[in-house]
Amino acid sequence: MIEAKSIGKFFSVVNEKGMAEGLTAVLNVSLTIPDGKIVSLLGPSGCGKSTFLEILGGLQAPTDGTIHIDGKLVLEPLPATRKEQIAYRRRYRFISPLANGVFRDRPKHDIAMIFQDYAVFPWMTAVQNVEFALKLRNAGRGAERLQRAALTEKAHAYLRKAGLGGFANKYPSQLSGGMRQRLALARALSVEPKIILMDEPFAAVDALTREKLQDELLRLWAETAAGGSPITIVLVTHDVHEAVYLSDEIIVFSPSPGTIRNRIPVEIKRPRARTDPALIEIEERVFALFQYDINQEAWYSI
Ligand SMILES: Nc1ncnc2c1ncn2[C@@H]1O[C@H](COP(=O)(O)OP(=O)(O)O)[C@@H](O)[C@H]1O
Ligand SMILES: [Mg+2]
Repeated sequence: MIEAKSIGKFFSVVNEKGMAEGLTAVLNVSLTIPDGKIVSLLGPSGCGKSTFLEILGGLQAPTDGTIHIDGKLVLEPLPATRKEQIAYRRRYRFISPLANGVFRDRPKHDIAMIFQDYAVFPWMTAVQNVEFALKLRNAGRGAERLQRAALTEKAHAYLRKAGLGGFANKYPSQLSGGMRQRLALARALSVEPKIILMDEPFAAVDALTREKLQDELLRLWAETAAGGSPITIVLVTHDVHEAVYLSDEIIVFSPSPGTIRNRIPVEIKRPRARTDPALIEIEERVFALFQYDINQEAWYSI
């Protein structure tokens, strides 16, 4: 279970006049996501979705609030310099009874992340990309470590799952946009994470490929569900149809600063039909919420 408690993120920025200025990207977001659900974060560009997702994954620290996954605190990457370490200890002195414990008992989380712009290495072939993720996951696993041959076999198995069986030795530049994104998906799934965070994963492909990738994602999710422990997927999107079609719940963010405007459950059984009237009715409700935001903005700018 993912629990976000009063998450806020404040950036200090320099404006066009060269003056320091504050920008609140995320404001007081509290949210619980149960295991095995597909949840979409939906909102206009610039409302803080990516910032919130990165906070969920521990890629950046919130300025307010905490994230727990299965009861364990999520922390941003360890600070590199001594100065940062001192600031880090100071920051967590109220959360951990022993601030140093934060360093010692650093919790590990089973999370994989997929970004909009095909986060695959261009200098590695498809299978090398997946093997790389598996090698990283292998480090420090002791007796559980996979042998080299088993690792390669697993990489191939996940490529086949993602429909890339025949492309193992191709480089990303030799694959289409949709295939590159499937490769990113294969790599994320290969480490068998409990949670996948996706930031507009299908934004860079054409409409038809996008629908195919959505179905692919649902198929892969259903496979993990059939195995008894479905993975949790948190997906950032600004596409209403995508959010409704994929999700168990849609979290609608307000324009900047991002706060939760609405939570809309989608209680339609899978597999779903894109033309299901119940689905379209929910889409219209979500569009109406956006309309409200747009009108508000128009009103403010008069
Ligand atoms: N590192 C940063 N420094 C300053 N401002 C930032 C930084 N990252 C994001 N922002 C600002 O925070 C707001 C939210 O950004 P983002 O989370 O990327 O929005 P979204 O993903 O919803 O489009 C934007 O106004 C953006 O300019
Ligand atoms: Mg974004």
